Amino acid sequence: MPSPGHASVTGDLPVHVAIIMDGNGRWAAQQGLPRIAGHERGTENIRRVTNAAAEAGIDYLTLWAFSTENWSRPLEEVAGIMRLLGEALDRETMELHRQGAQLRHIGSLEGLAPDLRKSVEDAIELTKDNTRLKLTLAFDYGGRQEVVRAMQEIVRAGIPADEITEETIALHLYTCDMPDPDLVIRTSGEHRMSNFLIWQAAYAELHFSPVYWPDFGPEHLQLALDDYASRERRFGNISAEAAALTSARGSR
Ligand code: IPE
Ligand code: IPE
Ligand code: MG
Repeated sequence: MPSPGHASVTGDLPVHVAIIMDGNGRWAAQQGLPRIAGHERGTENIRRVTNAAAEAGIDYLTLWAFSTENWSRPLEEVAGIMRLLGEALDRETMELHRQGAQLRHIGSLEGLAPDLRKSVEDAIELTKDNTRLKLTLAFDYGGRQEVVRAMQEIVRAGIPADEITEETIALHLYTCDMPDPDLVIRTSGEHRMSNFLIWQAAYAELHFSPVYWPDFGPEHLQLALDDYASRERRFGNISAEAAALTSARGSR
């Protein structure tokens, strides 16, 4: 939620960073490899960036791995991504747990094979009391679908129309117990949101990196954090500088 009345250069760390991990296919094409090799390298890269984010002191890291629209890709690619998710959970969950990270999920698990769904649920259950880094995997996630689901829940709960506030809606989103993202990073040079966190990112700072996701390393994360620190978040207000000038004029 925006904080009204606050207009300042952040100069500090974002609490919640969300990343649109894009460019796996183009990375693979560049290397003369099949697309799935890009997804494989992209999946491996998650550990590197997660460690860097934890070391930087980020509290919430949200990584978008699969959109509701990505189901329209060739069957073989979708099946490959599902396989990679299962392998990554098998390989990484214990290490995440040892590091005190809490794994969460936003999106739908309904379209996943039962064993894959169970792996996700088990990893969430195992790490639920950890407090170091809240690592949220956005998988089969779409912002519009999330808003539709929230509306359905609100109507089903019988909440009267004139009692619905921004908070009511926020409380029915997958992210109900998370702060809004302060910084959204998209890799691979695309400048669009593609249906990601459309409600929650209303006031996020956006950083676009030209680097394909498999090559996006700690140094690129640091560039995004430096970029964020230099931004002035105004939330509709005027800048601190303009406010000082206005009050100085007024007192003359
Ligand atoms: C992001 O990389 C991963 C997913 C969307 C699953 P892409 O697969 O979109 O890679 P490009 O955009 O084709 O390069
Ligand atoms: C967005 O990337 C989804 C993920 C990165 C998981 P896409 O590659 O699917 O988005 P578009 O199609 O370029 O907008
Ligand atoms: Mg893409």
